[in-house]
Amino acid sequence: MDSSRPSWTSRYSFILASIGSAVGLGNIWRFPYIMGKYGGAVFLIVYLFLILTICFIPLLAELATGKILKKECIGAYESVNPKFKPLGFLNPLTGVLISSFYFVVGGWIINYIYISFVSYKTSDFSGYFSSFIQGSTLPVIFTLLFLFMCMFFISRGIKKGIEFANNVLMPLFAVLLIGLIIFSLNLPNANLGIEYMFKPDFSKVSAEMFLAALGQALFTLSIGMGALLTYGSYIKEDKSIVKSTYTIIFSDTMFALMAGVMIFPAIFSFGLEPNSGAGLVFVTLPNIFAKIPFGNVVSAAFFILLFCAALTSGISILEVAIASFTERMKISRIKASVILFIIISAIAIPASLSFGKLYGVTLFGKTIFDFLDFTTSSILMPLNTLFLCIIAGWFLKIKGSQFISNKFFAVLFDIGLKFIIPTVLIGVLWAGLK
Ligand code: PHE
Repeated sequence: MDSSRPSWTSRYSFILASIGSAVGLGNIWRFPYIMGKYGGAVFLIVYLFLILTICFIPLLAELATGKILKKECIGAYESVNPKFKPLGFLNPLTGVLISSFYFVVGGWIINYIYISFVSYKTSDFSGYFSSFIQGSTLPVIFTLLFLFMCMFFISRGIKKGIEFANNVLMPLFAVLLIGLIIFSLNLPNANLGIEYMFKPDFSKVSAEMFLAALGQALFTLSIGMGALLTYGSYIKEDKSIVKSTYTIIFSDTMFALMAGVMIFPAIFSFGLEPNSGAGLVFVTLPNIFAKIPFGNVVSAAFFILLFCAALTSGISILEVAIASFTERMKISRIKASVILFIIISAIAIPASLSFGKLYGVTLFGKTIFDFLDFTTSSILMPLNTLFLCIIAGWFLKIKGSQFISNKFFAVLFDIGLKFIIPTVLIGVLWAGLK
């Protein structure tokens, strides 16, 4: 085993960083608007069901593969069979593509923090948001700034960079979230938002909703991109990897629900629509903040919270490629960070411009931003998860009994990993590509 490999200071650091990876834009930005789009409580039920059944197995398998092989993704797959090397390579590639659109949204967040402090007079955030994202200068500068911040922590290594960022940002995130929930629940008619979240209307069930729920579940848990494999590979000794898996899933789900409890009561209290799509947190919420006393303070708190969540996830997305660069090319983390910064900028800048100047440039009928979002969350992440389950289950021969003491659940894990999850994923990919 390579003794120069970094490792976590403690089990707590590993779990906190994994929760930091999982809890991100997926929870606060994507989850509420997808839930709004697919009818609220019914979506929630399907989503929770999928998280507990389908997602548990690949999450545990990805962490376990990292922990057992103790290598970055490409080397890990290669050590199982040299033929799998290109499949391993798909992980850092997916990370680079995800970061290229994820960081554009990170840049928007920085802008909203900035305007919360400087000027908060806009009465029509819908017009403001669309004219802002169409710009060619500020959105690009802020995207690069967000990327730079993540790179800064990454280049400092596991302990001084990744652990430090999570130790500071995750508690700040949690405190702000709780504060904003209390604020939101005290607004008039807040109960309407809670009812919307928890009272199901079964007429809204559809096949498309199932797909959306599964895509959301994989994305929010950071499954299928090598982030968990890479974080798992830095575990020294953790007897209870199953417990870690539960903790990550439970925390991520709690934070998504809390994000809903923070956002929906405010939306219903102001008689607004919960289904405004991707603009929910950049248009609907700022419209509310603009109407309340000290709205700019609430706005700053909300966007700083979003920033913390996005940064800790962004770090984990980049770590996959950084680990591959440093371990395979034997270069320093700083050098690897500079190279990665250049590569990601080259894709993220066009992605940011695809709302304005490059709007007309399309790939398969989608703008660059939408294309990156679609190919990563609907194709590459399910595909990588499929390969991971096959390699872990059939070739590395991971067995449930290695981690799970209950015989029944251990066997269920084996069947799930080898047969059920791959079948479901093939179905999802087929449906997504149709
Ligand atoms: N899980 C993160 C979120 O919810 C996104 C992410 C995806 C992070 C894949 C790492 C790997 O925002």
